[in-house]
Amino acid sequence: MKLRTLLRWMPVAAGGLALMDAAAIEPARLKVGRLTVPVDRGGDGLVGLRLAHLSDLHVGGTGWRSATLAKAVDACNRESVDLIALTGDFISKASHVPAALDLLSILRTDVPRLAVFGNHDHVYGRRPMEQLASGLADLGIVVLRNEGLRLRLRDGAVWFVGVDDGYSERDDLERAERQLETDGSPRILLTHYPDVADRLLPGQYQLSLAGHSHGGQIRLPILDEIVSYRHARTRYTRGLYMVNGNPLHVSPGLGMSALPLRLFNLPEVTILTFEPVEETPAPSNSAEEGLRSPLLLPEPPFPRH
Ligand SMILES: [Fe+2]
Repeated sequence: MKLRTLLRWMPVAAGGLALMDAAAIEPARLKVGRLTVPVDRGGDGLVGLRLAHLSDLHVGGTGWRSATLAKAVDACNRESVDLIALTGDFISKASHVPAALDLLSILRTDVPRLAVFGNHDHVYGRRPMEQLASGLADLGIVVLRNEGLRLRLRDGAVWFVGVDDGYSERDDLERAERQLETDGSPRILLTHYPDVADRLLPGQYQLSLAGHSHGGQIRLPILDEIVSYRHARTRYTRGLYMVNGNPLHVSPGLGMSALPLRLFNLPEVTILTFEPVEETPAPSNSAEEGLRSPLLLPEPPFPRH
């Protein structure tokens, strides 16, 4: 084969390999990510606390793999954690509520399990969503729908606030916060749509947990931006951000929507551990400043804004 012919076909071959990886290999693998969350003075009692964060299972959706999701549940069951947080998009088909509940029925029950709904949990109408809500309740998974809940974890109390899906404008943070007492306990927010964090006051929450953007799904220049901005309508794709003085973790998620592809972006369960910091990073005054913060970004130079 002539060199010129070889060079002509190399991009085609690379594209074919990337497509095979994105369609068949990566969606079947699981990453257990590990991140530390810095604790400032308002987070006394959080130090050492470990959370498992799962999101965007998309059971029944395009290219979904029950084996990958089972691996994720198994990883949660094996890890030493104090709480499991699930940030929505459990289903991608109304008919797959039972499959999602079957999968979650093997999730450990010895630690609190809190959840919020995502846009896909609402999109198939009221009946599947209510079926999902009652099924999760039967499993002992507490769904926070614009509600607050105070839990004792390890040595102290923590307020958990969960808002309904912000992408479809069902979130009501103010209503949830009215249920909180100002007892000085640290606060953790669960929201499917990460942009809800843009509305938080400086230092209001010690951590926010979100999903929704699936890490951009296809992490290539331009393409992941298209997915994030046009499909998911968010700049937050995955990892740990500092938004207006509030740490925000965006899960890369486990499933997919729109395209049945994940490229350079493995399905992930994230284990978050709170650790003290010598000096609290200066609160940023805007989300954009926070996005550039080098302290909390998991993989510089990301994001590229
Ligand atoms: Fe999703």
